[in-house]
Amino acid sequence: MSTQNEQPEQANEPLNGAYNPEPNGRNGYHGHQELRQVKDGPAFIAPTPPRYAQIVGWGYHVPSKVITNRDLEQIVDTQDEWIRSRTGIEERHVAGSPQETSATLGIQAARKALDLADIHPNKIDLIICATSSPEHIFPATASLIQDGLGAKNAGAFDLSAACSGFVYGLSMARGHILAGDAEYVLVIGAETLSRIVDWTDRGTCVLFGDGAGAVLVAASDVPGGIMASVLGSDGSGADLLTVPAGGSAMPATLETVSNGSHYIKMDGRAVFRFATRVMAEATTKVLAKAGLTVQDVDLVIPHQANERIIQNSVLKQLQIPSEKVFVNLQKYGNTSTASIPIALCEAIEAGKVKPGDKLVFVGFGAGLTWGACAIEWRTPVEKQEATWWRNTQRQATYQAAAARSMWKRAIRRVYSQVLSTREDEATS
Ligand code: COA
Repeated sequence: MSTQNEQPEQANEPLNGAYNPEPNGRNGYHGHQELRQVKDGPAFIAPTPPRYAQIVGWGYHVPSKVITNRDLEQIVDTQDEWIRSRTGIEERHVAGSPQETSATLGIQAARKALDLADIHPNKIDLIICATSSPEHIFPATASLIQDGLGAKNAGAFDLSAACSGFVYGLSMARGHILAGDAEYVLVIGAETLSRIVDWTDRGTCVLFGDGAGAVLVAASDVPGGIMASVLGSDGSGADLLTVPAGGSAMPATLETVSNGSHYIKMDGRAVFRFATRVMAEATTKVLAKAGLTVQDVDLVIPHQANERIIQNSVLKQLQIPSEKVFVNLQKYGNTSTASIPIALCEAIEAGKVKPGDKLVFVGFGAGLTWGACAIEWRTPVEKQEATWWRNTQRQATYQAAAARSMWKRAIRRVYSQVLSTREDEATS
């Protein structure tokens, strides 16, 4: 007689839904166990179908103000030719108005990702905002984005891994989904680096730009998606790229403000050497983890910091041809955590991503940190034009979110006023 743990012979036939006979798929997910029952037979413990983490929505937003290399010639001692030949950058977008912040750029990008996936903000379980230019030490920029989206069922936190942050975020999203803790995770890279760049330092101000990119990662039973990730850190290189002041190690003082310690400081050459090494290494490792070879790769989307870093790493060391490496840094400069999701969106727009393609996202940054993800793309990329009614519904959703947020703030203010009046009365 069968016990609960023994599978009867007919066990391969599921009672409800598809049954994947390979619960330990190539992304290493083991699935949960659940109690099932074969028709007219005893109950047994069977693995649930494996889960996969698929990118189902994507979007980006950059500020409208553009600063070209020629504009920079008016600000610091630099030349268009120097910037182009050393970095590949031609122009960058910067937040021109105080209303443009890491959170507002992130909200715009996130809305586009949700609209494209046609998913209501209520369905999001977790919002991860990777950022190197958060609005505050706390609260998290992710919480401000959660409020702006009206994602009332979502947890939210910021992820600090500098320019590697978006890849780290994808890896976290995959983990949450495969563990069964979340169905939808929004991963955002959002930056206003122009606010922490020293506009008198030609060694750094020519490199960075502002913008945000977002992807919606969803649980799925379709094999593929984010297949593997590799994350790395070497804190012995912490001083090579840093904003020294403003944290607990060097709180803001008159001196830190006057000597520019709140701006980005970088040893460019050392970062360059580190980046060219880890980009190739991380790509090789993540491909091996996903059971792929360099020849299987259809598109690499590297962190968009410097064209020469990309050439010296993925192109030369891994012999990946340039048509399989997406580069758009000429238009945006280095947007840190936002660079990979912005590049992903533009690669999709350019028709360079289609279902079945194997992609690699690879990044590096301050920390020092690095990371890579291997992805088997499964989501159709054709843009579905939303109806007038759907667009109106979406607008109403976001307006309702803004109204709800204002209402909650107002209620909280009135409530605390009433309470403190009562307390005053009680103590007098
Ligand atoms: N315009 C003109 N000249 C500049 C300049 C600029 N914007 N910035 C630096 N220079 C000068 C330097 O002062 C130096 O002059 P010198 O030889 O008279 O001393 C010369 O150019 C060479 O400087 P160097 O720093 O050796 O140039 P480089 O070839 O290493 O390029 C970077 C500099 C910053 C472009 C490059 O090192 C780099 O991209 N590093 C990685 C940075 C990065 O990606 N950071 C973000 C990580 S997420």
